[in-house]
Amino acid sequence: MITLTIGRPSEKQRIFLQDTHKHVGYGGARGGGKSWAIRTKAKLLGLKHPGVKMLIVRRTYPELQKNHIDQLKAELVPDVARYNGSEKRMTFKTGAIIDFMYCKNDDDLGRLQGAEYDVIFIDEATQLTEYQLKAIEACCRGVNDFPHRVYYTCNPGGQGHGYIKRIFIDRRFEDGEKPEDYSFTQALVQDNAALMEADPDYVRRLEALPPKLRKAWLDGMWDIFEGQFFEEFRDDPSHYLDREWTHVIEPFDIPPGWRIYRSYDFGYAKPFSCGWWAVDYDGRLYRILELYGCTGEPNVGVKWTAQEQFKRIHEIEAQHPYLKGKHILGVADPAIWNAESGESIADIAAKNHVFFEKGDNARITGWMQVHYRLQFDDQGIPMLYAFNTCKAFIRTMPLMMYDEHKVEDLDTDLEDHCPDEVRYMCMARPIKPTIVKERPIIGDDPLNQRIPKRKSIYISHG
Ligand SMILES: Nc1ncnc2c1ncn2[C@@H]1O[C@H](COP(=O)(O)OP(=O)(O)OP(=O)(O)O)[C@@H](O)[C@H]1O
Ligand SMILES: [Mg+2]
Repeated sequence: MITLTIGRPSEKQRIFLQDTHKHVGYGGARGGGKSWAIRTKAKLLGLKHPGVKMLIVRRTYPELQKNHIDQLKAELVPDVARYNGSEKRMTFKTGAIIDFMYCKNDDDLGRLQGAEYDVIFIDEATQLTEYQLKAIEACCRGVNDFPHRVYYTCNPGGQGHGYIKRIFIDRRFEDGEKPEDYSFTQALVQDNAALMEADPDYVRRLEALPPKLRKAWLDGMWDIFEGQFFEEFRDDPSHYLDREWTHVIEPFDIPPGWRIYRSYDFGYAKPFSCGWWAVDYDGRLYRILELYGCTGEPNVGVKWTAQEQFKRIHEIEAQHPYLKGKHILGVADPAIWNAESGESIADIAAKNHVFFEKGDNARITGWMQVHYRLQFDDQGIPMLYAFNTCKAFIRTMPLMMYDEHKVEDLDTDLEDHCPDEVRYMCMARPIKPTIVKERPIIGDDPLNQRIPKRKSIYISHG
């Protein structure tokens, strides 16, 4: 008979330990007792289910060792289990196993070739990419009576932020994902009585963080996070100076004199993105309509060939009340004129009566243009708005993150086709930055925490 003292879970950890969904999410802030919860669940399952195969994943080996291997070795070896360092495998006396894996790069997934696990724990899941997370999830299978589950613990921010937020926070499911399979328990540091008692200063250290990081790590907010590329983007109107400071607005009828543009980014493995824009007499852009989807794997939205995309674009332009009868100026990624395989994407577009000018693909200058346009002036008015029907824009803009190596660029592994097409649009009508007077900074006003406090901010009125 094996006896093991587990300790006492917090209320949130108890919910996590008892959760029987196929996909169990936990955390959302720092210090909520996430790694403890994973280790404890693994121990309980290892004792209860002789022979169960478990996997604990973390992004890097040092993190894996510090948070899991060393601690489980201290708690389980030699009375309950033995550990094989070269295999990175813990074998319980019950026959249950825990394998430990790190996944820093896609190459690390090679070690999962043909692997099957009954239960998988992914600690700090937002640190992995969606591709990596899905490849790991796919190993949760087996023909036996053991529970088959994937547990994810997470903090906001990181390459997998968008995916984890979609399935656990927004609960926006795609084909093949069943809503009843997913549950999430939010645990903040305040829910971790053990830590609050052992290290009362920990909360004060979180409170002292810069605003964005504090909101993410202390309050578990998923809308703002460190490393976010368009941190000025807002889709939840905050009231300030009697105005709604937002980029997302209700649709309205487009005045007949406004010019109309179409921006387009071709996608094969990633989605294609097409946006339609109206320009007011001050040069302000309004994203009024969009068409978004993908022609290959992984599937996001519709799956159309280039031919089908342009056929649909042409139909929309012929029929939609905003666009019907308008002269539309098209701008697209210059790469669509490449014709290595005979016919270029631009040729296919033209055959379908969809015409483009070559967009300016200077990335850094282009992103600066998008930033200039998103910046609010001192009355809360930006130079770029989107109608609230433009779902791909509203969803993907806040998910963009800085590239780790090219600091002024965004991480191109993310779902960036809509932002790319926005960039071509902004480069088609570049605006000049001008310095506006300093925004008043009022105490702890939430807006001041969400808009960077700069000495001066760039705004164009041209
Ligand atoms: N139920 C518990 N009983 C005793 N100690 C606990 C319990 N839950 C967590 N702890 C301890 O509290 C501290 C923080 O917990 P843990 O490392 O699990 O949090 P975390 O959410 O993973 O934190 P981070 O975001 O920093 O990774 C650790 O020292 C852990 O051992
Ligand atoms: Mg942890």
